[in-house]
Amino acid sequence: MTDLDHFLMVYRFGLAEIKTKIEILAEELTHRGTGNPIEHVRPRLKTPASISAKAQRIGCPFTYADLRQRIRDIAGIRVVCGFVSDVYTVAAMLTRQPDVELVLTKDYIEKPKPNGYRSLHLLVEIPVFMSDRVVSVPVEVQLRTVAMDFWASLEHKIYYKHSHQVPARLRDELTAAAEDAARLDQRMERLHREIHGVGSPARSSSGHPSAS
Ligand code: GTP
Ligand code: MG
Repeated sequence: MTDLDHFLMVYRFGLAEIKTKIEILAEELTHRGTGNPIEHVRPRLKTPASISAKAQRIGCPFTYADLRQRIRDIAGIRVVCGFVSDVYTVAAMLTRQPDVELVLTKDYIEKPKPNGYRSLHLLVEIPVFMSDRVVSVPVEVQLRTVAMDFWASLEHKIYYKHSHQVPARLRDELTAAAEDAARLDQRMERLHREIHGVGSPARSSSGHPSAS
């Protein structure tokens, strides 16, 4: 095993831990009969090429210690939910688990990026139990709705195609499209509440469990 494989190994384990936690929540909530708030889950490990590209971009020296300290999104998982309230419910259910340490929250739903990007980003640390030590592994969790995911995926594609030279008029229109998506989210959330009533136990925005 190369040094690089060894370096990446704990991230793979940390990612697997978080993925399992999300899958447990998804399956358990399905059986509670209130519907599964999680549409899909996409874990990804940064490739060596993208680790080195990011290191170069942020001026991070090429030592494992520096990479470990400065590149916090080597392990990442995207959790796509039905409704905006589901995003916060799942985030709360994950971060209140005693072995999950919440390090940083970036709420781009409450405060979208200037281009319209919306998602809830959490940086969490999870302990990974090795044969002779416990390693705390950072994992970036991106939670978003289907509508936010639709926008972000296509925006990424458009930028990729235009190699970042997107004309101002199109940039503005992309931002407007993000706002359309956000309005659709609000509308679907309202319909959901009107049909199912507010505060069904598993899906209330507080994310607190019911007594049962
Ligand atoms: P990175 O160095 O790219 O990780 O950015 P950062 O450290 O400033 O973190 P931030 O929370 O802003 O973004 C992290 C990740 O969120 C990115 O790698 C993307 O996956 C996603 N993201 C952030 N902004 C955008 C955006 O404008 N469009 C799309 N499609 N995705 C975005
Ligand atoms: Mg990133």
